[in-house]
Amino acid sequence: MKVLVIGKGGREHALCWRLHQSPSVWGLYCTGDNPGIAKIAEPCRVSSSDFDGLAAFAAREKIDLTVVGPEDPLAAGVVDHFKARGLTILGPSKAAAQLEASKSFAKSVMRAAGVPTAAAESFTDITEALDYVRSRPYRVVVKADGLALGKGVTVCQDLGQAEAAIVEALERKRFGAAGARILIEERLEGEELSFFALCNGVEAVPLGFVQDHKAVFDGDQGPNTGGMGAYSPLPHYDDAFAERVMTEVIRPTLHEMARRDIPFSGILFAGLMVTGTRLNVLEYNVRFGDPECESLMMRFDGDLGATLGAVAEGRVRDAAVRLSPQSAVAVVLASGGYPGEYRTGLPIGGLEQIDGDEPSALKTRWAIKRTRVKVFHAGTTLADGALVTNGGRVLVVTARAESVQQAVAAAYEAADLIRFDGLHLRRDIAYRVLGTPTNPINPG
Ligand code: AMP
Ligand code: GLY
Repeated sequence: MKVLVIGKGGREHALCWRLHQSPSVWGLYCTGDNPGIAKIAEPCRVSSSDFDGLAAFAAREKIDLTVVGPEDPLAAGVVDHFKARGLTILGPSKAAAQLEASKSFAKSVMRAAGVPTAAAESFTDITEALDYVRSRPYRVVVKADGLALGKGVTVCQDLGQAEAAIVEALERKRFGAAGARILIEERLEGEELSFFALCNGVEAVPLGFVQDHKAVFDGDQGPNTGGMGAYSPLPHYDDAFAERVMTEVIRPTLHEMARRDIPFSGILFAGLMVTGTRLNVLEYNVRFGDPECESLMMRFDGDLGATLGAVAEGRVRDAAVRLSPQSAVAVVLASGGYPGEYRTGLPIGGLEQIDGDEPSALKTRWAIKRTRVKVFHAGTTLADGALVTNGGRVLVVTARAESVQQAVAAAYEAADLIRFDGLHLRRDIAYRVLGTPTNPINPG
């Protein structure tokens, strides 16, 4: 079949890479054309917000399946647009994408479905919001209701910070329309996990758990980013726990959406907080996570085109999900300054030692240990034929090996070959399993 991928970052490069290897896929197109994607997919030179143009391209090229990476086109209705033209696309309708695009909508679905989640209220009036936080006996999280480029959430240390976050959103309009309504939620403590399921209507199959590392610095310090690294599977969260998430979260959510006549199809990503034996949903997303997707694609052993095609056509039971029990880890190489201001156009060196055809001692060692290393391009471009940085998250170095220890070691060995000015990475990806140099878990 012929597949079109909408999106342009590391997540989409990983999807294209796996689709390119799918026996069922013989034509691959992508709206993104970073040098990693451009090596394996034909360009679709249509903006990912031009739905008429995308649908016309899909019809003209006889695309059998379109896969959408980012949330924005989903929230703006790209799926409705394609389906109205009889085109097959994987993802939720605009109405169903509200699970991610409106936090108050997601909360109302969770409540109606009996899905465990933190206490919360939504506000548009600043006085009411301030009165509410002042009367709470617990710490809170203030969230812009709409999509705010991942910046709309303030996890507050104290009342002063909560008041400031409310003023920022409702008075100073920092998030524009996305923050005209806010949600004030009880702050939960615990371990954060991402859970993914492939869904169509009330049917779903699990893709399992991935752990992201959102803060920019080691030890979860500094501001939140889109994600600095991820690994899967999670040794402490087994299939029985995945089944619990399917029973307590995914299936009730799908039933509630169907009851509202807005059935959900596509990828349902539940952001979870686990506190002891308690499980709470922090948020829903309606797409793959980035860099979660890179680690999942590294473990995906089946025919991704056939799997995603089956889900898009409503044949969820045929969606043979074959995920390797091996470990995959993804380490993000970011521009210095990200998630704030950063420079672009900086030359990138060293990649040929990992991705090139030249044999090397490191490649031989990885091969002997049956370790695979793959670098996905997120924010890169070519300037006069040379690879340069072109975004906050630049490259995602991904490794797969027998154990999480081996995968982490290989990913950092590879990452250390890559150079650009200001390169920043976290050194502690998977620390919850491995510990850190100063704070090891299970030493020896
Ligand atoms: P969200 O976009 O709702 O997932 O929020 C972004 C990040 O804020 C999450 O990944 C968590 O790290 C944090 N967060 C969100 N809600 C809560 C909560 N109720 N308690 C603690 N942290 C939270
Ligand atoms: N890595 C988190 C996300 O994609 O939302």
